[in-house]
Amino acid sequence: MADRGSFSGRVGFILAAAGSAVGLGNIWRFPYLAGQNGGAIFLLIYLICIFLLCYPIMVGEIAIGRNTQSDAYGSYKKLGGRGWGFLGIFGILAGIFILSFYNVVAGWAFGYFLEISFGDLLSAGDFGAFFGNYINDISDNFWFSLAFMVLTALIVSQGVQKGIEAANKIMMPLLYLILIGLIIYSLTLPNAIQGVIFYLVPDFSELKVQTVFDGLRQAFFSLSLGMGALITYGSYLDKKQNIVSSAAVISLADTSVAFLAGLMVFPMVAALNAYEVSGPSLIFVVLAKVFSNMDPLVGRVVGGSFFLLICFAALTSTISLLEVPAAYFVDQKKWSRKGVVWGMALLIFVLGIPSMVSQGMIPALNKLPFYQGRDFLTFVADMCDISLTLGGCLMSIFIVRTWSLKSMDEELAIGNDHYMKSATRTFLSVVMRYISPWLLAILTFLIIVEKFFGLGVIFPGWE
Ligand code: PHE
Repeated sequence: MADRGSFSGRVGFILAAAGSAVGLGNIWRFPYLAGQNGGAIFLLIYLICIFLLCYPIMVGEIAIGRNTQSDAYGSYKKLGGRGWGFLGIFGILAGIFILSFYNVVAGWAFGYFLEISFGDLLSAGDFGAFFGNYINDISDNFWFSLAFMVLTALIVSQGVQKGIEAANKIMMPLLYLILIGLIIYSLTLPNAIQGVIFYLVPDFSELKVQTVFDGLRQAFFSLSLGMGALITYGSYLDKKQNIVSSAAVISLADTSVAFLAGLMVFPMVAALNAYEVSGPSLIFVVLAKVFSNMDPLVGRVVGGSFFLLICFAALTSTISLLEVPAAYFVDQKKWSRKGVVWGMALLIFVLGIPSMVSQGMIPALNKLPFYQGRDFLTFVADMCDISLTLGGCLMSIFIVRTWSLKSMDEELAIGNDHYMKSATRTFLSVVMRYISPWLLAILTFLIIVEKFFGLGVIFPGWE
């Protein structure tokens, strides 16, 4: 068999998997979803989802990958036959579509990095209008997102250790450093405390079904679950490592970055009294405004580093997204890594173009009639989210009914001598047997109904 590559060890694996998890989801999407969903109450729901539903799914995915040492499709096929292989294909497709829109948003961040550091973005004045025009007109963004895809492909084509692992080892620590610096600054702004209260003191009257839906899909997206990224990364992990503790470290790393991103953003929102800014533009508008209030040179440096940080975070995620289909073609079709990577990157970039032009440039894609007037990028992103929670649900069913919890336990006991007698084992089996399949099936169904028709269809009177 051709050498598939592998991580050099525990640290390399954890950094790469945490790099996959930490991304635009944490820094761009988490704060705006928290902003739209009542702040602290969203944070609370999110943390519950991570602990109760996501951590077990993460352990399961890594165990499947390491057991089979194969890509997402190959793993399911090996353990469950061709019929289950479809679940792997479903995940690979989800990864392709996630990357298609993700790369567009990464292109925006890359553009902001360049325009703040070297252009005159910080003198734009009305940052809301600026951002609207900026994503509407794709003449620059096209190139920025193309550049981002090329960078991703360059790293992935270098293989697991020299490409993916090396890039993560540099970028992940830098990311924490810049984030912490900005939090310290943010907390010194006037009125910062109000933002902290909004973010950390839950107001239970703000709890809505929407908060639960958004918390759940955000948790899946943020941890890169439900589509085989961690099966693929797990397949490059050697048999000496402890999966249970590695998954805990990865979840913690991811959650801490989301938490810190919120801690950075909300004091800024409070200081600027910018509560009216919501949705995907949040960090682009609020942060630009904060940087523009600094001394011009300082604003350039700090603002530039912030958007550079987002690019790093996004890049460690895009490489994992591209790796999923790449691993499939390398493992199953024996195609050359380089050819697959560049071919896939081009295809996915083209698939992202409708999302890119859906921000105003092509009005028909800006307001989809069958999707309650929302834009195409949002449509793709929502469909991907749904496929992640559905993928997680089916994976739990697969583990319980087909692979068996016993086989999973045996895999988890490798590299973890105490596993068989541990409380974690009981926790995982209770969640996988009785909680995650049902809860995820019900919630995924409700999310689909809500997205297309509004929940009033099933529960008259609900928004
Ligand atoms: N977890 C990444 C983020 O938060 C996105 C992602 C999803 C990456 C699924 C890989 C797989 O930005």
